[in-house]
Amino acid sequence: MDVLPDLVPPSRPPEVLRPDSVFLAAGTRAVGTPAVMVENVAKRFRIYHERNDSLKASVMRGRRAEFEEFWAVDDVSFTVNQGETFGIIGENGSGKSTLLKCMARILRPDRGQVIVDGKLSALLELGAGFHQELSGRENVYLNGSILGLSRKQIDDRFDDIVEFAGLERFIDTPVKNYSSGMYVRLGFSVAINVDPDVLLVDEVLAVGDENFQRRCGEKFGEMQRAGKTIVIVSHGLGQMRTMCDRLAWLRNGKLEYIGESKDVIDQYLGTVSVSRLPGHDGVSKRFGTGEVEITAVEILGPAGTLTTKVHTGDNVTIRIRYEVAAGRVVRPCFGFGVHRIDGLLVTGVNSREQKAIPEFITGEGWFDYTVKALPLLTGTYDVSAAIQDEKCTLTYDWWFEGLRFEVLPAVVHETEGALSLFGSWSHDSSQN
Ligand SMILES: Nc1ncnc2c1ncn2[C@@H]1O[C@H](COP(=O)(O)OP(=O)(O)O)[C@@H](O)[C@H]1O
Ligand SMILES: [Mg+2]
Repeated sequence: MDVLPDLVPPSRPPEVLRPDSVFLAAGTRAVGTPAVMVENVAKRFRIYHERNDSLKASVMRGRRAEFEEFWAVDDVSFTVNQGETFGIIGENGSGKSTLLKCMARILRPDRGQVIVDGKLSALLELGAGFHQELSGRENVYLNGSILGLSRKQIDDRFDDIVEFAGLERFIDTPVKNYSSGMYVRLGFSVAINVDPDVLLVDEVLAVGDENFQRRCGEKFGEMQRAGKTIVIVSHGLGQMRTMCDRLAWLRNGKLEYIGESKDVIDQYLGTVSVSRLPGHDGVSKRFGTGEVEITAVEILGPAGTLTTKVHTGDNVTIRIRYEVAAGRVVRPCFGFGVHRIDGLLVTGVNSREQKAIPEFITGEGWFDYTVKALPLLTGTYDVSAAIQDEKCTLTYDWWFEGLRFEVLPAVVHETEGALSLFGSWSHDSSQN
């Protein structure tokens, strides 16, 4: 999951750059003129490799670090119009958050530029912009001033901010003690209360509870009616379809498709083939009330380390990491299903069957399912994981295809079909 980053100071205060010399007074601007122009934006990251060589070898090599570079965002251009609600979709790692950070000027693109007309406010990763040691109150002032509000303006809006976040009782608690749901509520509340012209939101809102999500939905509606521009990244394709006027689909950092929401989602589903999966709205890759969030679905190989490639017969562990939004969740049930990439449901497992139900969970943690010898034969598989209540009627979080892994051939097993039975042959030749 995203670790809570330290306070990220914006590289520059949000700028008001006007694409032409015509001054557009708030309220008189015509819908349809550009609000955000993303022009040939590219962002490169380095991945450093740790080398397990000797001290001598690393001294001999000098101080040069071993790294690879790759383009997380690769030559992306589009324009978001004023008054438009614009969505960005794409698989994990496709560059959505990086692009949004470039738009928010928290990252500087290596190539290209982003031009924003109007006051910009952003809710990016969980906890981004919060200072861990400071209280909620102090963080409201800190963030408000970073977003361009005077102390007086923050004083005036303070009660609204706290009330919208529902944090009256915790506002003087250091935010390091906040749950992810509390972070999101406060971050979103500050972001909307600075009254931005352009609001950027990364997919953190899903962490909030149902009540908060509903209020966020109302707030988005209000902003849309007021002609504000919203750019949102989300996993919830159903929500994106109804909320967004247009969508951009990123794939490996490149703009794969841009257009009306429905068309883009159809194209996207055609490729990621989740349409065979029963979402509550037919298209979501994720749904649930959000009281607990699945933060990752992982597979640990025989060495106990994270991997996405295992062999038939390996000892593997499927790990579901979770984070409780606030307080505790009583008697949750964990489960997962494994689909082969061609759609075959290989198995479905849940912790209720083994009566492995904790009395309650709180904060962060994980649930492991260990398999002594993986029976799956060579192929690509997707794991969909869920956390539900004890009766499996209420879904806190259901993540379709939260993890893809590959099974590589092992020497001694079957080559036909889906499974190895791990049987052994014997024979009796005494009858002959
Ligand atoms: N600070 C960073 N340093 C190196 N790589 C990064 C950094 N931030 C993101 N990445 C990598 O860039 C790619 C795009 O990441 P991200 O924008 O977070 O994707 P998404 O939001 O679509 O899941 C991923 O491969 C991710 O691991
Ligand atoms: Mg992201």
